[in-house]
Amino acid sequence: MRRVLQVLLAMLVTCGTLVAPGDARTAGEVTYDRYSLMIDGRRIVLQAAEFHYFRLPSPHLWRDVLEKFKAAGFNAVSLYFSWAYHSPAPGVYDFTGVRDVDRLLRTAHQAGLYVIARPGPYINAESSGGGLPAWVKTVPGRARSSEAGYREAYREWLHRINPVIARHQVGEGGPVILYNAENEYQVNTDAAYMQDIQDQARADGIDVPITTNDCCDGGSWSSTWATGPGAVQIPGIDDYPQSFECADPGLWGPWGEGVTERLRDDIPVFAAEYQAGAIDVGDAGYDKCRELTGPAFMKYFYKNNLVTTGATMFSYYMGYGGTNWGWLAQPNDVYTSYDYGAAITEARRLTPKYDEFKRQGYFLQAVTPIAKTDPVAAPPASDNPALTTAARANPDTGTQFVLVKHTDRAATSTDAATLDWPAPDGRHRVPVQVKGRDAHVIVAGYDLGGQRLTLSTSEIMTHAAIGGRDVAVLYGTAGSPGATVLRYGSEPRVTVLDGRVSSTYAGGDLRLDYSHDGLARVLISGGGRRPLLLLIGTDEEAARFWRADTASGPVLVRGTDLVRSASVSGDTARLVADVGTGAGQVEVFAPPQARRLRIGTQDVRVTRTRSGSLLGSTRPPGPAPLPALTGWRAHVESPEAQPGFDDSRWTVADSTTTTSPHPPKTLPVLYADDYGYHYGNVWYRGHFTATGAETTIDLNAITGKRGNYLVWLNGRYLGSAAGGVQADSGDQWTPPNPDPGPGHFAIPAGLLKPGVDNVIAVLVANMGHNDDWIADDLRFKQPRGLVAAAIGGTPISWRIQGAAGVDPVRGGLNNGGLYGERTGWHLSAHPDKSWKTANPAAAPLIPGVTWYRTSFRLDLPEDQDVPVGLRFGGDPSPAYRVQIFLNGWNVGQYGGDIGPQKEFSLPAGLLQERGANTLALAVTAEQPLPGGPGPISLFAYGNVRVR
Ligand code: GAL
Repeated sequence: MRRVLQVLLAMLVTCGTLVAPGDARTAGEVTYDRYSLMIDGRRIVLQAAEFHYFRLPSPHLWRDVLEKFKAAGFNAVSLYFSWAYHSPAPGVYDFTGVRDVDRLLRTAHQAGLYVIARPGPYINAESSGGGLPAWVKTVPGRARSSEAGYREAYREWLHRINPVIARHQVGEGGPVILYNAENEYQVNTDAAYMQDIQDQARADGIDVPITTNDCCDGGSWSSTWATGPGAVQIPGIDDYPQSFECADPGLWGPWGEGVTERLRDDIPVFAAEYQAGAIDVGDAGYDKCRELTGPAFMKYFYKNNLVTTGATMFSYYMGYGGTNWGWLAQPNDVYTSYDYGAAITEARRLTPKYDEFKRQGYFLQAVTPIAKTDPVAAPPASDNPALTTAARANPDTGTQFVLVKHTDRAATSTDAATLDWPAPDGRHRVPVQVKGRDAHVIVAGYDLGGQRLTLSTSEIMTHAAIGGRDVAVLYGTAGSPGATVLRYGSEPRVTVLDGRVSSTYAGGDLRLDYSHDGLARVLISGGGRRPLLLLIGTDEEAARFWRADTASGPVLVRGTDLVRSASVSGDTARLVADVGTGAGQVEVFAPPQARRLRIGTQDVRVTRTRSGSLLGSTRPPGPAPLPALTGWRAHVESPEAQPGFDDSRWTVADSTTTTSPHPPKTLPVLYADDYGYHYGNVWYRGHFTATGAETTIDLNAITGKRGNYLVWLNGRYLGSAAGGVQADSGDQWTPPNPDPGPGHFAIPAGLLKPGVDNVIAVLVANMGHNDDWIADDLRFKQPRGLVAAAIGGTPISWRIQGAAGVDPVRGGLNNGGLYGERTGWHLSAHPDKSWKTANPAAAPLIPGVTWYRTSFRLDLPEDQDVPVGLRFGGDPSPAYRVQIFLNGWNVGQYGGDIGPQKEFSLPAGLLQERGANTLALAVTAEQPLPGGPGPISLFAYGNVRVR
């Protein structure tokens, strides 16, 4: 009945407004028009960034990251929900512990963020299978279509996840304001599928507007399918104009201008995924990706986008990338780290990109007329053709937003011009300057609190009414000229407290001229308005400001590494702030009753400045030494390679049919997924009665990129081969390689025992599943494990063994089927006293798997945040690969063929910051080696006082 009612309700959804008879709800209504989203009638500029909880398996750190989003001026977080992460098998779902998405949504709400919920079913995200569980490879029916089999599977997921999302919608007092159906579903145009996802959502109680993120071809779901089945209410566009070529960070928009198109006249322009980092396709390392998508890119592309189309809905991909722990990675594009070169690093550190988000984000939140603009004629930079302008204005307030940028977007020179600006309050000639790939959005005709800003060539970062006056933070490129004109009824009093600022007053206009240099402070009072404190800084100075809202109004803070929240009670201003090792000054602009300052648990001695602020010094965090990693013990495993190993309890692999669209090349079918082994390594043992005439073992194995397989016959190691990957060319459009991962192993003379049982043992790495980006089904369903096996014409009977089960805490993607994994060698409690001591870097390795374990204690200060990593020194060999387990959690893979990564994040929560920890390394060697990985050490990515 509830379902029928919900379907009926769903039919009443018009233009994003739920018009439900008898609905007494007065809060939490999401509507929209051509300009912007509105929440309870209030326009917002949606400034969201993407976060993947499944890449940070420490729920208490979700709060840390989301508070950092909020502090950068984001008002929303975009969340993919990964089906694969929750469902290890059909009908089995886990939403507890690190998978507690209820907690995630509560945390987002507590952090003060709206949520764009993106449950797929397909999410891409460089995650294994694009977020489709690997068991979906074995159900009939094309993935990402309305075909039976797949349909039952995805509906199962939606009916689990939708109710969770539904109960956190704004209408229920929660944060969810948008629901994104599918992901870049532009190639496979199965409208029935797109429609069904939405019908299921409505039936499950989703009543916020439904969006989708189109890509590449200008939005098929929005134009072709604007009104037909499958059409969503607010389609948006994904844009990655800076490409993913991190090895060449000097690139400049190789994939175009990156201007988000207007898709329809009745909806806002929605940048559903806008590039804010990059996957490291060329293994250049994420620092290079951060450079490629650094502040210059952000300034030019984001501001250009803002003013060109008047987009008011942005979701930046990624705000924080995280880690492909376990077997979460889609192996063709990424390795363990999914740092993404994002504004917040994998270890949760803030970068200069964060500063730029903050400058832009604060502006978008403070200067509200930006939420509703139309294009208008721009004041030309007529005396210098090197510069170009474009403009928009709010039709209700007349406020103008003028973009000033280089005409040649690749220009790196510094150019200046005079703008002859017919601003709403009068015409002014003002200087502008653009340094290289910078761009500015400058404002005219704006009611800035109690002031009237005629115009400013400085950018507005934020402004706030604090203690009966306005405090405004303006900024510009260091060394560039600035002019700000304010309107008064009579001549005001101007006091330059700091810096060099000249002022003139004529005809009601107070004009300030200056060069952006450090932080200038100008106090203006009288003139018929409440006082104004203008803080005019360089980009860098502006980035030092934080804004927090308190019950007594907004507070501005200059200094500290991060302000998470503030409050004022009695005569004390309190900050919850991070203070780094640089410490230094802290200055607080708070209501005048605040005379004292407390940061966390520390009282800070302050003096009152001429600016009316409180000024003090912060105390740096204490040292946080980390122990050396010593006392390693080692043990060789791979007993499966030995002929006498008892495999009688392994799964018999004798199937002659498969639901896979990839027909087997030899029988029986040996695809690991067909036998329920979906993640990590898989062992095969093939028994055969040899004739004695066999000369070669011919195998094919598919592993995904960076994978390999190792082969033994009757206990003798025959060698290894590279596993098959998605497509030889690495090109997403090329069909899967028809002959992936071949390996031919000559049988040494005398090794076969004719007439009796012989055993071939094969260890195949499964590096993860291909995604289904173009929805062709074939890539996603490319098998893993052995896909062909022959020893002449001799019949072989096979058994297969993967992971021993699903770890109840860490989930189905944590483990594969190594002997040590099946018997708990990765777990802290495993007894290793009998193992012999060995230094991993110096101990010789034999082909197969050797484990190393050590333990260490940490006693990190409780009031400090010290993200810890594991570092491998030296150069890795391509002949070994290392799985790293921290207290049983598979935190990554290291090796010469695995990727450029040498440092691995050990997130708090998995890491016991005050207690005992166990590290276990499973090292698989393809050949005898004189030594293994190392030297291995712990290091701190940072150190901040948080309390
Ligand atoms: C988009 C996709 C995301 C992610 C991104 C690249 O096309 O929607 O999930 O894969 O590309 O990182």
